[in-house]
Amino acid sequence: MSARKRVGVLISGRGSNMSALIDACNTPEYPAEITIVISNQPNAPGLVLAAESGISTLTIDHKPYPTREAFEADLDAALKQAKIDLVCNAGFMRLLTENFVDEWRDRQLNIHPSLLPAFKGLHTHERAIEAGVKISGCTVHFVRTEMDSGPIIAQAAVPVLPDDSAEDLARRVLEAEHKLYPLALKLVASGDTRVENERVGFKNRQTIHGPYIAPWFD
Ligand code: GRF
Repeated sequence: MSARKRVGVLISGRGSNMSALIDACNTPEYPAEITIVISNQPNAPGLVLAAESGISTLTIDHKPYPTREAFEADLDAALKQAKIDLVCNAGFMRLLTENFVDEWRDRQLNIHPSLLPAFKGLHTHERAIEAGVKISGCTVHFVRTEMDSGPIIAQAAVPVLPDDSAEDLARRVLEAEHKLYPLALKLVASGDTRVENERVGFKNRQTIHGPYIAPWFD
């Protein structure tokens, strides 16, 4: 197997998707390893989880920086110092500007708890229930400057049940997120993806079944 891709994970909070990625990286043959976890929030619980797993952590608090660009310059430098190949945003609550996004173009992934392009932004599950959709889910995509936009790598669908609260739906979608993000990272890290005309294609035609998982069929 070729060298495992070095991954930097960006978090702002709980870090459950980060933990799912750490677990995946600990399985044999997985094509990536997490070398650093960076949080913009000093008290992010995910930092503790990462440290407990023996992964280097770093806090780059955005608040003292005069501009977004200045914060991103330090973030970029830290990722480069750690010799990162791929960046995974996992509950990272900062919008990124053009320079940073271009620097990591098609090498930076994000997970969002809806079937994009529906329900970008916050309060996703409340809005999905409000809209009366019967299926929701989650999406892993390459990052672009517009919030929750960019070429879609993989999606998973979950049902919205009649009596669901936003918390019920969030819990069901999160379970799917924890399966989908490791799958999407595996596709990218193994070199199976290519972006053409802002759409993700797969070199290995067998992959075609991969991104359409429906976790409740397990
Ligand atoms: C997840 O629902 C993710 O999709 C969204 O923010 C949440 C982060 O949760 N972007 P966690 O920190 O990974 O537990």
